[in-house]
Amino acid sequence: MNAPIGVIDSGVGGLTVAKEIMKLLPNEQIYYIGDNARCPYGPRSLQEVKQYTWQMAQALMKKRIKMLVIACNTATAAALNSLQKKLPIPVIGVIFPGARAAVKNSSSKNIAVLGTLGTVQSGAYEKAIKSLVSSAHVVQLACPRFVPLVESDEYEGEFARKMVGETLSQIEGETFDTAILGCTHYPLLQGFIEEVFGEGVQVVSSAQETAKDVERHLRFAQKFADWKRPPVHHFYTSGSLPIFQTIIEKWLKIEEPVIHSIRFPK
Ligand code: SIN
Repeated sequence: MNAPIGVIDSGVGGLTVAKEIMKLLPNEQIYYIGDNARCPYGPRSLQEVKQYTWQMAQALMKKRIKMLVIACNTATAAALNSLQKKLPIPVIGVIFPGARAAVKNSSSKNIAVLGTLGTVQSGAYEKAIKSLVSSAHVVQLACPRFVPLVESDEYEGEFARKMVGETLSQIEGETFDTAILGCTHYPLLQGFIEEVFGEGVQVVSSAQETAKDVERHLRFAQKFADWKRPPVHHFYTSGSLPIFQTIIEKWLKIEEPVIHSIRFPK
């Protein structure tokens, strides 16, 4: 019961999901891996992303996690099905929860999906949205410049605002009332994205819905942790420790987080 929940991502984006899990389930311990050294996953082939995702999952299986959250849309598109088949624990991704959040929110069912190249090309969001509402109209936009901005901790200034504006101008003129942040890095740019879309568009992410899915799984399996004190979370990165630490402290408001290095074959 007190085994940790594993959360994996190509880098720091999955921390947006980890944050919601921590909020909803403060008793649960999280083991997080950010594969920052091989980030971004978006431009890589789905085969390569599948292999990287599998390596992270295996590393966390050695830590005896009780469930795995693939907190990366590209990795979800590439590896969710195969990990669900191969691992003896529940595995959840972020695409279906994101699609569900958007469909719940949208009255017109005209929905925009912002994602990485890999996620957009996989068509996974469109499929998930249409499995919920077959008549939905989906506009997709790949935003390949967003992830490097977040990974380098440059997501707050004027440069970021300008880049967001330039990227989103590609779907100017399209009609939608809801936009999904179809990459877990994008919530860090949410303010700028909302500025561009204006009040008529609701911007949703999969983080909260994914946390609710984690809660449902643990409830069903009766596997809630019962630590007597707040658990200590562990964060692993294959990349630079200082940037990883800065973002964890800023985003999760954890002082002196427990951070480790992890290496994967190149
Ligand atoms: C990436 O590494 O390119 C993005 C991660 C994501 O799709 O959430």
